[in-house]
Amino acid sequence: MVDTIRFLLGDQPVALSDVDPTTTVLEWLRASAGRTGTKEGCAEGDCGACTVVLTEPDGAGGLACRTVNSCIQFVATLDGTQLLTVEDLKRGDTLHPVQQAMVDAHASQCGFCTPGFVMSLYQLYRTYPDGGPPARETLDRALAGNLCRCTGYRPILEAAERMLASPRVRETDAAEAKAVAALEGLRRKTGLAYRDRFFAPLNLAELAALLQAHPDARLLSGGTDLGLEVTKAHRTIGKIIYLGRVAELRAIVRTNTHLEIGAAATWRETVPALLADWPALDELFARFAGPPVRNAGTIGGNVANASPIGDSPPVLLALDAEIDLFGAAGMRRLQLADFFLDYRKTALAPGEAVARVRIPLPAKGRRLRAYKVSKRHDDDISAVCGVFALTVENGRVSNARVAFGGMAAIPKRAAACEAALEGRPWTLATAEAAAAVLRRDFSPIGDMRASAAYRTKVASNLLLRFWHETEGRAATRAVHYG
Ligand SMILES: Cc1cc2nc3c(=O)[nH]c(=O)nc-3n(C[C@H](O)[C@H](O)[C@H](O)COP(=O)(O)OP(=O)(O)OC[C@H]3O[C@@H](n4cnc5c(N)ncnc54)[C@H](O)[C@@H]3O)c2cc1C
Ligand code: FES
Ligand code: FES
Repeated sequence: MVDTIRFLLGDQPVALSDVDPTTTVLEWLRASAGRTGTKEGCAEGDCGACTVVLTEPDGAGGLACRTVNSCIQFVATLDGTQLLTVEDLKRGDTLHPVQQAMVDAHASQCGFCTPGFVMSLYQLYRTYPDGGPPARETLDRALAGNLCRCTGYRPILEAAERMLASPRVRETDAAEAKAVAALEGLRRKTGLAYRDRFFAPLNLAELAALLQAHPDARLLSGGTDLGLEVTKAHRTIGKIIYLGRVAELRAIVRTNTHLEIGAAATWRETVPALLADWPALDELFARFAGPPVRNAGTIGGNVANASPIGDSPPVLLALDAEIDLFGAAGMRRLQLADFFLDYRKTALAPGEAVARVRIPLPAKGRRLRAYKVSKRHDDDISAVCGVFALTVENGRVSNARVAFGGMAAIPKRAAACEAALEGRPWTLATAEAAAAVLRRDFSPIGDMRASAAYRTKVASNLLLRFWHETEGRAATRAVHYG
C-alpha cells in the first residue's frame, strides 16, 4: 500500500507524505499551498466562506462535481480527487462567467463570502441543465449553504440568474478528458494506508481486515460531524478508517421490497432515491444543512452519530427501516428502533460499522409527512422533527407510525400516540385525542433551541397539521420570507 495522498490541485498533481491526515483542506490550502482565496469564516461548515469544488470521474467518461466545506474536510480524503478553488476559475486575464456575473451584478461588498459563493455558483454553472434560468427557489436552495452579511443576497441571486441566462461556456472536451485521464491514473488497486493512521479501504474485504486490526479506529464518512471534533473541540483523532471509498457502502439499490442505501452514500446521492418513493420528504431534506454539507455527509454518519436532533432517524423510524451492521464477523441486521439505546449510545459493537439502511417500499395509499421546526429556515439543526406515516382503510387508521427527533434523548417512536390512532376513524377528533396522548410519550428538555413546553406544544400541533394536510382541507407549507 502506498503511503502518499495523491490528488490534483486544479490540473497539477500533488503527492503529500508529510502532512497530518486530519489537517483540514482549508488549512492545507492556505498554509501550505499558498491558496488564500478560500476563506475561513466559522470553521464548522455553517457559513460557506471555505467552499471548494471536488471532481471525480463519473463512470461515463465525464466528471462529477460537488461543493464541500474545506474547513471540515480532512486533507487525506482528497486522495483520488481533483480539488478546484476560486484561483482555478480565471483563464489568463479573463474572468470565469460566474465571476463576471458577480462583478456585473455588484454582488460583492466586503468580499469575505465571495469566493465561497463563486464556488457554489460554479458548481451550479457546471451542472444545471440548459434551458433558461432556474426558478428562484432553485437558486435559494443552491445557495443555502453560503451566508453573506453585507449584500442582502439580492445581487448574488441576480448574478446567478445572469450567468445562467447566457449560453454556457463549458470546459472543453479535451480539458475534461485530460482531467479524467489524470484522475484515472490516480485510481488505486488497493486502499490507501497513510502513515499507519489513515486507512481508506476500497471494498468490504479490505474494510473487514482493517476493522479487525484496528477496532479502536474512528470511522469517517463525510466528516461533517467528525470534522468539527477537530476544528471546534480541538480533539486529536488517532487512527481513522475512511469509508468514503468502500464501493459496497456507496451503493443505492432498489429491490422488489426495499430501498437499500449504502451507509457511505452522500445525501446528494441519497435524497433523490428517497424522494422517488416519498416525495413528501422534499422540504425536510432541502432544509437538511446546505448543499456543501449534503454533498459530503452521509446517511450512515447521521444514524451512527445518534444525535437526538438528527433529521433522518425520525424519518427512518417512521418508515420501519432496518439497519445492517458490518464487522470482521460479517453482517448483522437490526430494526433501526433497536439501534438507538440511550443518549448517543447505539448497538454498534467495537470494530463494527453501519453498512446499509433498508427501507421497505411504500404500501399503496400510505400517507407520509415530515416536519422540521428550527429557528432558521435554512441550514439549521431541528429543535423538533416530527414524521408521520399512516394507512387508512375503510375510513379507519390501520397502521400508524409517529416518530420524533428533539423530544427525547434518542430519536424515538411515539408508542402511546400510535396506539391512540390505530383502529380509530381518521377524523379531527381522533387526531386531537392522539395529539393529547403525545404528552405521555415524551418529556423533552429545554435548551437553547427550544423550551420543553414549546417542544411539547409544537409536537402535538404537528400531528394536527398532518391531519389537516392529509385530509386535503389545508395545504400548509412553510413560507420563507427573505
Ligand atoms: C453546517 C452543518 C449543518 C448540519 N445540518 C444538519 C441538519 O440539518 N440535519 C441533520 O440531521 N444533521 C445536520 N448536520 C450534521 C451532519 O451533517 C449529519 O449528521 C451527517 O449526515 C453526518 O454524516 P457524515 O458522513 O458527515 O458523518 P461523519 O462526520 O463522517 O461521522 C459522524 C459520526 O458517525 C461515525 N460514523 C460515520 N460513518 C459511520 C458508519 N458507517 N458506521 C459507524 N459509524 C460511523 C463517525 O465516527 C462519527 O462519530 C449538519 C452539520 C453541519 C456541519
Ligand atoms: S469556514 Fe464557514 S463553512 Fe467553512
Ligand atoms: S460581501 Fe461581505 S459577507 Fe458577503
